[in-house]
Amino acid sequence: MELSEQIKARRSIRKYQDTQIPREALEKIIEAGTYASNAGGGQRSMIVGIRNAELVEKLGKLNMAHFDRSRLIGSYVSKEQPSVIDDPTIKSGFYGAPSLCIVFAQKDFLFSVPDAFCCAESMCMEAFDLGISSCIVSRAEETFLSEEGRVFLREWGVPENYIGRCFVTLGYCDGSYPKAKPRRENRVVIVE
Ligand SMILES: Cc1cc2nc3c(=O)[nH]c(=O)nc-3n(C[C@H](O)[C@H](O)[C@H](O)COP(=O)(O)O)c2cc1C
Repeated sequence: MELSEQIKARRSIRKYQDTQIPREALEKIIEAGTYASNAGGGQRSMIVGIRNAELVEKLGKLNMAHFDRSRLIGSYVSKEQPSVIDDPTIKSGFYGAPSLCIVFAQKDFLFSVPDAFCCAESMCMEAFDLGISSCIVSRAEETFLSEEGRVFLREWGVPENYIGRCFVTLGYCDGSYPKAKPRRENRVVIVE
């Protein structure tokens, strides 16, 4: 598939098979993250790859620990691939994915959030090219707030001045691969 077709075909997947992804695939996906555009060419983001379904499940519950449903505005995310917003019975923010990438960035750097999400998008595209499904997930800051969360950061050697910014879930899509929602109109202006 051409790159432009891949960009349009990739979807956020929230239903996963139990099958684990190969380690080589995870390595390639992380490598793609390290090649993402980054502010000032500083290459500041740090990626932790977790290829352990049990640990991903544990982290997915921490990800939901501070989820506040009272602030939701009522719109749905996806009927085919319901998110935690759509389905209150989902207990893990990582949807049963067997692997996960966590993107950390410097707390005090102005572009740490955009850097991290650029990194995440590159990883999603690389995963798609490898036939692996993904979903960008937010709430990384609060996921590691608890003592349990902070223990992981120490275990993984995440420096004190780094903070979680986002996640990329990874695994094989369970069921049919969804199509894109129609694009909202009147969002583009081209000036010549
Ligand atoms: C900044 C950002 C944050 C996101 N956070 C979440 C999230 O916390 N949970 C989730 O299930 N999906 C999350 N997503 C995925 C979006 O819901 C998804 O990209 C959107 O619904 C469009 O669907 P598509 O990726 O299939 O085109 C996030 C995406 C972005 C770009």
